[in-house]
Amino acid sequence: MGEGKGNVFVSKACLFLLFFCCCFSVPCLGANVTYDHRSLIIDGQRKLLISASIHYPRSVPGMWPGLIQTAKEGGVDVIETYVFWNGHELSPGNYYFGGRFNLVEFVKIVQRAGMYLILRIGPFVAAEWNFGGIPVWLHYVPGIVFRTDNEPFKSHMQNFTTFIVNMMKQEKFFAPQGGPIILAQIENEYGDIETVYGDGAKPYAMWAARMAVSQNIGVPWIMCQQYDAPDPVINTCNSFYCDQFTPNSVNKPKFWTENWPGWFKTFGGRDPHRPPEDVAYAVARFFQKGGSLQNYYMYHGGTNFDRTSGGPFITTSYDYDAPIDEYGLARLPKWGHLKELHKAIKLCEHVLLHNEPTLLSLGPLQEANVYADPSGECAAFLANMDEENDKIINFRNMSYDLPAWSVSVLPDCKNEAFNTAKVRSQSSIVEMVSEDFQPNLQWDVFVEKAGIWGEADFIKSKLVDHINTTKDTTDYLWYTTSLDVDENEEFLKGGSRPILIVDSKGHAVYAFVNQELQVSASGNGMDSTFKFESPISLRAGKNEIAFLSMTVGLQNGGPFYEWVGAGLTNVKIEGFKDGTIDLSSNSWIYKIGLEGEHQNIYKENGMNNVKWVSTSKPPKNQPLTWYKAVVDPPPGDEPVGLDMIRMGKGLAWLNGEAIGRYWPRSSSIHDECTQQCNYRGQFKPNKCSTGCGEPTQRWYHVPRSWFRPSGNILVIFEEKGGNPNKIKFSRRLVTSICATASENYPFVDLESWHKDTTENIEAKATLHLRCPNNGSISSVKFASFGTPSGTCGSYSKGDCHDPTSATVVERICLNKTDCAIELSEENFNKDLCLGLTKKLAVEAVCH
Ligand SMILES: *[C@@H]1O[C@H](CO)[C@@H](O)[C@H](O)[C@H]1NC(C)=O
Ligand SMILES: *[C@@H]1O[C@H](CO)[C@@H](O)[C@H](O)[C@H]1NC(C)=O
Ligand SMILES: *[C@@H]1O[C@H](CO)[C@@H](O)[C@H](O)[C@H]1NC(C)=O
Ligand SMILES: *[C@@H]1O[C@H](CO)[C@@H](O)[C@H](O)[C@H]1NC(C)=O
Ligand SMILES: *[C@@H]1O[C@H](CO)[C@@H](O)[C@H](O)[C@H]1NC(C)=O
Ligand SMILES: *[C@@H]1O[C@H](CO)[C@@H](O)[C@H](O)[C@H]1NC(C)=O
Repeated sequence: MGEGKGNVFVSKACLFLLFFCCCFSVPCLGANVTYDHRSLIIDGQRKLLISASIHYPRSVPGMWPGLIQTAKEGGVDVIETYVFWNGHELSPGNYYFGGRFNLVEFVKIVQRAGMYLILRIGPFVAAEWNFGGIPVWLHYVPGIVFRTDNEPFKSHMQNFTTFIVNMMKQEKFFAPQGGPIILAQIENEYGDIETVYGDGAKPYAMWAARMAVSQNIGVPWIMCQQYDAPDPVINTCNSFYCDQFTPNSVNKPKFWTENWPGWFKTFGGRDPHRPPEDVAYAVARFFQKGGSLQNYYMYHGGTNFDRTSGGPFITTSYDYDAPIDEYGLARLPKWGHLKELHKAIKLCEHVLLHNEPTLLSLGPLQEANVYADPSGECAAFLANMDEENDKIINFRNMSYDLPAWSVSVLPDCKNEAFNTAKVRSQSSIVEMVSEDFQPNLQWDVFVEKAGIWGEADFIKSKLVDHINTTKDTTDYLWYTTSLDVDENEEFLKGGSRPILIVDSKGHAVYAFVNQELQVSASGNGMDSTFKFESPISLRAGKNEIAFLSMTVGLQNGGPFYEWVGAGLTNVKIEGFKDGTIDLSSNSWIYKIGLEGEHQNIYKENGMNNVKWVSTSKPPKNQPLTWYKAVVDPPPGDEPVGLDMIRMGKGLAWLNGEAIGRYWPRSSSIHDECTQQCNYRGQFKPNKCSTGCGEPTQRWYHVPRSWFRPSGNILVIFEEKGGNPNKIKFSRRLVTSICATASENYPFVDLESWHKDTTENIEAKATLHLRCPNNGSISSVKFASFGTPSGTCGSYSKGDCHDPTSATVVERICLNKTDCAIELSEENFNKDLCLGLTKKLAVEAVCH
């Protein structure tokens, strides 16, 4: 819709007119946003809203329109994003809104798509984002303590909030101004940790609410997980399930700001998945129980480019097992299953929002909520909360098959439009595919000195805190000292080697003696602290001892998180004739960052600041090495990942753009993984993981828009050693699409659902296939009507199989972008293996 010109105070009559002119489901000029106990009210209409978190800096501007379009096609009405303070205020008063941080452009794209926006200003956001989104410099303002009744913090928080609000007002982005913003958030999940902040907590939370409301943005404010949010601020729920949530006042609607459809990963951890059946179950239960706004956190997780990842140890990928994958492709069947759910729920919108439900018990763990209008309009949700047993239940003289842990949506109280456990959406196989032939890259190499390069930054007779020293301008800090070894030490004469004993607050460290890497160590999971002992090699006379300490993303939340430190706390060497030497209060020489970083050698204008050595045989397993090569873009237009399987740990850039931290650290083979996830029962992040014993993150997303047609410069900094010859680009390809349909689960085509004629909706068992990106089906890899088994990519025929299956599917689907195959008499031999329920499974290839 048009960019309204100053129509903040439009009359009711005018609003009414505007409604008819332009306001069908799109934000229009001067929308009036309020709420009551049931829902948000936009221009006098209660709204049932499906929202999707997409964080603008976790993708690139070139991806934004496509992501937002894919969300819209998935049945999403609202895009939700945080605002990332530390991406915007780089130093006090020095603001940045370019590139991935172009918030205004992002909001405009949402607006152009005819969608709404929820702006979660925070400005504390957590979000697995570095330092929870707050600039590190703020921690060094004298007297400041974050997120409590502290004047310096409140002053900065208010000023940043005001800055963002004013920017949005200037762009006329709030709904009453004709913009897409219908809600804004202040603070974030503070209620969960409030008690730790003692007396400062409650005054701070109440101040934050008042401060927000005084911004006069014309749309309601929300506070998530803030149980005592004062009127008119709405407290909202964040969890895997929010059906049992009730807001703190009968006048507030039930909103769910974070439904986690998956989970984040840490380097060295497993790959968590949340099954689509369970996500859909949670959403359906929420709307069954009176919810009216639900947001997926994340709908597209994306990528923590550069050093924006929080931590410690959050991976560069923020895929989140979300409905749109890290690379921007719809994740199937999750995206498709939720799309169908959204359609079914939207069919109920009116009756749901205008009637109080009747609760009906259908069994010990089965219940219905029926929303009926005196006019006859009626919608029902039938739930089977039993974690094990499928149930046939009777409702209004009809019987319904409810799988365990599922909800059926009946938009007319009669026909099942959707059941959360019956996944009809197609699935797909997505692979990272490398070209068969990749030319050997010609690498230029520059090796950093292990220890102080150039001038020392400072010397202290103690081990300092890492973060206080680097202030996060870099991941790296050198701690170096020296040690004189007497030539009569036993270990110099073949005795056992001396043992280095180190304590660290985190996050990782490499120990060098006389320029040789001795040992590396790091924390694990979300615990950054570690200790290690390792034999080292010393020589007679003077020894240089150097530690490269590093952070891997700063804490992103928790009480007083800004005070959590990093770096070495204790260094000892054991095994001398006089016992153990404690080096902790030695004279330590410090250097912040790497030479290559200081010289900007990953950027085009800094590349010549060091002397690179050109070689076709780059060194392998060589620590502290910069590699640089000219690369061609991979062919095609599919998303691209950089395969770092044979590298150690470090940072990567393409054409000066920071790809992020790489670390193909493997999870333990002893971790618990589940290939076949049982969707039934309460989900927890560690319930359904894959990737045990494999690198948590092998591929690193390089956005297509960062490539030039030729002459691209790839720069890698490798900390501990790897094999650069194995670095290659892979393309993310959908190599197969699959679907199944069962005689058991005929369903109604929701596209052609007409409220008025719901008497005898014909439910059909039909299999649907659609190629991504308007491709067409080029071959049918597998087709069996009968009793096929297996999953996409590994289907096999059962004892019962109609031999004409493949011919039928090919006739209907070949060369088509999409096709529908009915499990009918005309298509298949339904008399086959009488008594058995038959299904059709198809795997096809698109191009
Ligand atoms: C906005 O809507 C509320 C309730 O729906 C109503 O009380 C108020 O007058 C409306 N404001 C305008 C400017 O129309
Ligand atoms: C916040 O803004 C006000 C008004 O412009 C100014 O007086 C104050 O110094 C600012 N506070 C901080 C911490 O910058
Ligand atoms: C269910 O069937 C009974 C008996 O046939 C009938 O009395 C009742 O009205 C029916 N209920 C509904 C909701 O159709
Ligand atoms: C960082 O320095 C500040 C100020 O000197 C000190 O209060 C704080 O404890 C230090 N943090 C850590 C983690 O050592
Ligand atoms: C697919 O085709 C439709 C209709 O021709 C077009 O509007 C759409 O942009 C195409 N989508 C893609 C991804 O090419
Ligand atoms: C599909 O297209 C190919 C190439 O254009 C053609 O050879 C083939 O006959 C077509 N098949 C069908 C079933 O239309």
